[in-house]
Order: sequence, then structure tokens, then C-alpha cells
Amino acid sequence: MKLDQTLFGAAFRNPVLLAAGTCGFGEEVWEVMDLRTLGGIVTKSVTLEPRAGNPAPRVAEFRAGMINSVGLANPGARAVRRDKLPWIRDHLRSIQVFVSVAGHTPAEYLEIVRILDDADGFLGFELNLSCPNDTRRGSLPFALDPQALTQVVEGVRSLTSRPILVKLAPNAPDLSLPARAAEEAGADGLTLVNTLPGLVLDPRTRRPALGAGAGGVSGPALRAVGVHAVWRVRQATGLPLLGVGGIASGEDAVQYLLAGASLVQMGTASFWDPRSAERVRNELEHFGRREGVAHVSELVGGALLGSGGVAADPVPSSIPATASTGPDVHDG
Ligand code: FUM
Repeated sequence: MKLDQTLFGAAFRNPVLLAAGTCGFGEEVWEVMDLRTLGGIVTKSVTLEPRAGNPAPRVAEFRAGMINSVGLANPGARAVRRDKLPWIRDHLRSIQVFVSVAGHTPAEYLEIVRILDDADGFLGFELNLSCPNDTRRGSLPFALDPQALTQVVEGVRSLTSRPILVKLAPNAPDLSLPARAAEEAGADGLTLVNTLPGLVLDPRTRRPALGAGAGGVSGPALRAVGVHAVWRVRQATGLPLLGVGGIASGEDAVQYLLAGASLVQMGTASFWDPRSAERVRNELEHFGRREGVAHVSELVGGALLGSGGVAADPVPSSIPATASTGPDVHDG
């Protein structure tokens, strides 16, 4: 099966990317895996000012996955431009790179994009509007507030001609609403989904397993949530979708493709096995060969097509597109 995809005016050698927060800025994992075997990477989220991140422990495992509250630790937009993007330009020419951007206010997103936009070495931006560990004090993440989401995406759209991905949160009651809001505001693609807010307690200490308290759940526990999110949003917009959450095998990736994702991102599995993204890429190829699929694009949306196809989710008409949706999310 051929794995190449052309999206956002760019060639992806295969549909497997590393997700934001799982490979730093590439350099951090360079010794343990050959990133050039992948379709691309998304960098750690970049904030306007440097962030030290949340107190340790920042990551904890549990039976069904992992929980993290890293707190967006990163060197800040100016240092990323000066120190990280030149490395990416020199080493990752053959793959596609998205810079993840995070902020507390719409103005911060715009300022970060202003600082980075005319640098070399990357294809586009992934707007992280859904980090569960860094919500604006007393309010929802942008991804759960379609009006705030629109403000960020429209603002960034006015500043850059690069492709813009918008990363959405899994805990929106109806993901078609932020998806459509992002599309109308000028997004080029959607990344589904960020981690799911959660809490792991240590029964002996009676304290949270993470230094920050609550965090974001990823890994196998998130896979069915992510696949459903892609499937749901595939029925609501025509934008290219990137599926992420719990992918650890080629067949996990196929689920996302069948639900309607054109590309997939991997995260937690690569903490357990740094070469898992390369393995998933190979397993995907073998799956296609075994199943007689000539090109990966034949799988995209396959669960929604043809006889015996999966029934579409009903889209509730009672929730206005501008409504704030979902429970408040705090980083504990
Ligand atoms: O805490 C963190 O840095 C996580 C970010 C995210 O999930 O977007």
C-alpha cells in the first residue's frame, strides 16, 4: 500500500506524525529514533514567554494509559525561533513540521505567530486550544468556547498564509460545533483530540499521582474517544482531519483513517517505545498489502461509506453554534 498523502499543499511521505508534546522540537529524540521515516512531527506547544512547567511528577501511568500535567514547559517563542527552528530546518527537511502554539489570550496566540511566521523550516501552525492543564483562570479552554475559538483562529488567519490546524478537546458535548466554528474562522485542518481531563489518586498517600493534581489522560483509554471524535467531525466539516489518541499499532491507525482522518499522530506509545511510530508506519503498510488496499487514501472515511457503512451520529440542532459548551476544566 502506498502511504504518501498530499495535504495543505505539501507532500507527506506517510500519514504517521508524532503529536505535540511527545518529541520536543525533534532534537530531543534525534538520538533514539529516525524522524525522517515519519510523515512529520508537531512540536511541543510554544508559548509567548518561557515556561518552567508544572511541579513533578508530571507524568504517571495507570492500567489503561497515562496522565500528564506538564504545564506547557517550553523555552518561549523567541528562543524557539532562535534555537529550535534552525535545527528543524537543517535536519527535518524531508518531513512536515507543524509548530504547536498555546496562549492564555487571543493576543498571545497572535504575537507568537508574528514572531515565528517568517522563519524557515516548518509547514504550518497547530493551534493548541485544548490543553487541559493550562486553562485561562476561571474560564473554559478556547476549544470549548466557540466564540473564543473563533477569535483566535480568525486572528491567526489574518496573520499567516501557512496551513493552520486547530487542536480540539475531547470533552465538548458536540464536537461538530467547535469544528464548524474553526472551519468558518479559516482553519485548514483539525486535530482530534487532545487529552481528556482526568485524575489518578495514589491510595496510599491519598494524594494525586501528579504534582499538579489533575491532568490529561492519553493512551489506550483515549482511543475510542478519539476515533469517535474523528467520525463525528467527519460528518460536520470537509476539512482534513488528523486523528490522535491511543494509537499503538497499525490497526489502531486504520481505525482513525476509516473514521475519516487523513493523517494520524502518535504520542503515548512513543513514551513506552520510542520506535513505535516507525513500527506503526510499517504495520500500516503491511495491513494495506494484506487487505489489498493500493493507496492509504482508499481507507480514509471508509467507515462512513458504502453498503453496510456505519450510521451517522445525529447532530443535535438545539445547541446554537455560538454556545459555550462543556464543563469547566481546571488544572488542579
Ligand atoms: O501540560 C501540558 O503541557 C499539556 C499540553 C496539552 O495537552 O496540550
